[in-house]
Amino acid sequence: MTDQTPPASTDVLSAPTAGRVSEEAVWEVLRGVIDPELGSDIVELGMAKGVRIEPDGTVHVTIALTTSGCPLRAEIQRNVRTRVGALAGVTHVKLDWTELDQAGKAAAMERARRNIAERAEQTAVPSSTKVVMVASGKGGVGKSSVTVNLGAALADMGFTVGIMDADIWGYSVPRMVGLDGRMHAEEQPPEPDGAAAGDKRARIIPNEIPVGDGRLKVVSMGFLVEDEGSALMWRGLVLNRAVQHFLEDVDWEGVDYLLIDMPPGTGDVQMGLAKLLPRAEMLIVTTPSLTAQKVAIRVVDMGRKNFLHIAGVVENMSAYVDDTGREHRLFGTGGGDRLAEDAGVPLLARIPIEAAVADGGDHGRPVALADGPAADAFRALARRIVEDVIQPTDMSGCSSRMLDAVQAALDEADSGPVATRAPS
Ligand SMILES: Nc1ncnc2c1ncn2[C@@H]1O[C@H](COP(=O)(O)OP(=O)(O)O)[C@@H](O)[C@H]1O
Ligand SMILES: [Mg+2]
Repeated sequence: MTDQTPPASTDVLSAPTAGRVSEEAVWEVLRGVIDPELGSDIVELGMAKGVRIEPDGTVHVTIALTTSGCPLRAEIQRNVRTRVGALAGVTHVKLDWTELDQAGKAAAMERARRNIAERAEQTAVPSSTKVVMVASGKGGVGKSSVTVNLGAALADMGFTVGIMDADIWGYSVPRMVGLDGRMHAEEQPPEPDGAAAGDKRARIIPNEIPVGDGRLKVVSMGFLVEDEGSALMWRGLVLNRAVQHFLEDVDWEGVDYLLIDMPPGTGDVQMGLAKLLPRAEMLIVTTPSLTAQKVAIRVVDMGRKNFLHIAGVVENMSAYVDDTGREHRLFGTGGGDRLAEDAGVPLLARIPIEAAVADGGDHGRPVALADGPAADAFRALARRIVEDVIQPTDMSGCSSRMLDAVQAALDEADSGPVATRAPS
């Protein structure tokens, strides 16, 4: 088999003509498949070896792994299947597996090494952390409620969940999880190569609470300012930087899922975050009302233009379920289905409207940890995410060996010039 070079990126976001998928389109979505261990996409790492398209729409993708038998194979496989399978005109996705040769491995390691060095300057989010942006077209649809309850349900399952409150003006996460007080910073031990310069790095430690078998780690503007009024005085540029700090300077080590409560719409903060976190998944929250979907689809478009993966739609404030189990559609019906269909993604959950959701939010006790129809819906959403949609990274069995090799390569490179962080 001969290796193929991916063609230069073209405007693949426009629909392919005549229902036939192009090789370029396949290569482009393969760039969204990240090897969580090496922290790069499989095209860049040279692991995507070939793409062949049959006239009936069957797409063959050849993937070379660093080592066979690593559990990440399943994750890469799932990722390739869902992403390529979602392209218009694709009927089947078939994967062929091979192993990287010695030169290929060396090149992949070199790329991973460079990524680790670059990422150290960019975000402090480990590549094994699943980043989930919770977004919506407009405010008041329940984005923060979904973020907090999904976070609580995931933590209850035993995961360590980070919640980053990026809705700087309208922050509400601290109240909803019942946390207050300042965040503190801790000096990190200096990097071996930076010791002479004495550039000790301070890391912000998120406020933390145990939930069930897991933990919630929360970062919010609410832990930094005196009151909501003073947050309003911060100007746009400063706010953008604040959100960037939450990614660069917060200690997110050990976090399985990082949920980001996004500001509504498609402003500067949202664009900035999308650029900083190209491997994030997006959940779009909407209401059942059909009129809300036009603004919501713009958020989907923004995500896609930045190569984010849209994981699905959550319809909130769906039918109220009374004591007899009867449904009452207070806010219309069909909005979630319509948006999911327009975006070509699954509708992952319908969260009923229920006083306990608002009540739990006001009193810092997420309803997902109690009982009732909304609690059930949030827990079902969490299970679906873990089992199916955004599975946690399992690096057991292969990570140590590979990361040791990367570390060794880094140590070797320490003799040469190393990029250092500019103080901010
Ligand atoms: N499913 C629900 N049932 C009842 N009230 C809800 C539900 N979802 C959200 N709310 C309430 O609606 C208001 C707006 O929700 P919020 O999560 O703050 O929205 P957003 O973050 O999108 O602005 C809050 O008062 C919240 O408690
Ligand atoms: Mg909110």
